Amino acid sequence: MIAARPAVRSLAASKIRELFNAGMGRADILAFWVGEPDEPTPEFIRKAGMDSIAAGETFYTHNLGIPEIREALGVYLKGLHAGFRSQEVVVTSAGVNALMLATQLVVDPGERVVEVVPLWPNLQEIPRILGAQVETVALEFSPSGWFLNLEKLLEALTPGTRALYLNSPNNPTGWTVSRAEQKAILEHCRRHGIWIIADDAYERLFYEGNGIAPSFLDLADAQDRVISANTFSKTWLMPGWRLGWLVVPAGLGADLGKLIEYNTSCAPVFVQRAGIAALNQGEPVIARTVARFRKARDFLVRELNSIDGLSAALPTGTMYAFFRVRGVTDSLEFCKQLARDAGLGLAPGSAFGAEGEGFARWCFAASEERLAEGVRRLRNAMVRRPQGTP
Ligand SMILES: Cc1ncc(COP(=O)(O)O)c(C=O)c1O
Repeated sequence: MIAARPAVRSLAASKIRELFNAGMGRADILAFWVGEPDEPTPEFIRKAGMDSIAAGETFYTHNLGIPEIREALGVYLKGLHAGFRSQEVVVTSAGVNALMLATQLVVDPGERVVEVVPLWPNLQEIPRILGAQVETVALEFSPSGWFLNLEKLLEALTPGTRALYLNSPNNPTGWTVSRAEQKAILEHCRRHGIWIIADDAYERLFYEGNGIAPSFLDLADAQDRVISANTFSKTWLMPGWRLGWLVVPAGLGADLGKLIEYNTSCAPVFVQRAGIAALNQGEPVIARTVARFRKARDFLVRELNSIDGLSAALPTGTMYAFFRVRGVTDSLEFCKQLARDAGLGLAPGSAFGAEGEGFARWCFAASEERLAEGVRRLRNAMVRRPQGTP
């Protein structure tokens, strides 16, 4: 029999994709299931990319990225994180590629890794593709917020565990790790030689304090086993460009360069040029986006909690509301029904692991008008919903 490797065959297929494939990608569905901003990339960033193409910049670059973008990233990261010093910054083909490269860099087949869940499905499957054993520690829900049981997490991080994957602010829950929790985690991982792979994709979509989520890069030394993966997709409204970066301990750049060579060789040069424009002139874009998303978040969470049977905690970061639906035991079926009967597209909680069952995710990167219409559809669907349905 011709077949892919067992590790690949056993990967979970995307549940959101399953909604689509079931014919539910209809144009009349008001869709909030995809996690991307609702605006195109700002003009000045697009122009930087177009100028580069016009100038004939269509060749390979250095594996680790062109010097100008690595310098710009260094300046950006120093401005953001006091602890960022002599770690190496490497350009990748977006966040998902950064996370795959980080995993290829430090995780061997059969090794045990721990993830805090519910979690973006890609990050759950990446270590599995490489044959790692994935253990999970679940965040706990209460209507006032999501909580990490720190003791449980530290217990799960046994000696011999290779890596902790921590996405904060977290997709889908909007939970953000606190500074005190980070210190305890770093201390523990240092003691046992465990890598921390921090997925910082939403660090600038954070609605508290100075708007920058607590980062392990504020605490780590250049020789700590800490890797930060990041992306231009959310912060600068660039999901289609496929540009991201990794921060790795000093000295690992050369090995990472080999992996990049054999994966993608380099990020496209004109995309890197667009990234430089985003880094150098993008702060007003971020400020505007965060203000807009904060308003959308406040509106949506208030409305969701006003619907009988729904319970949503206020997310401290990201662009998602992850809310509990009373009585739902099959969130995929619930979301299929919503799409089919109410014309509303939400992502099933079970797409983010078994721990997300009973919840649904709503991406609030949308106008208030669209959100209000979505809420109206959901409210009607909940009123019509017979008792005892999944
Ligand atoms: C938690 C998380 N990490 C990383 C990414 C990476 O996105 P991209 O591959 O577009 O950079 C995403 C995108 O949805 C995400 O939700």
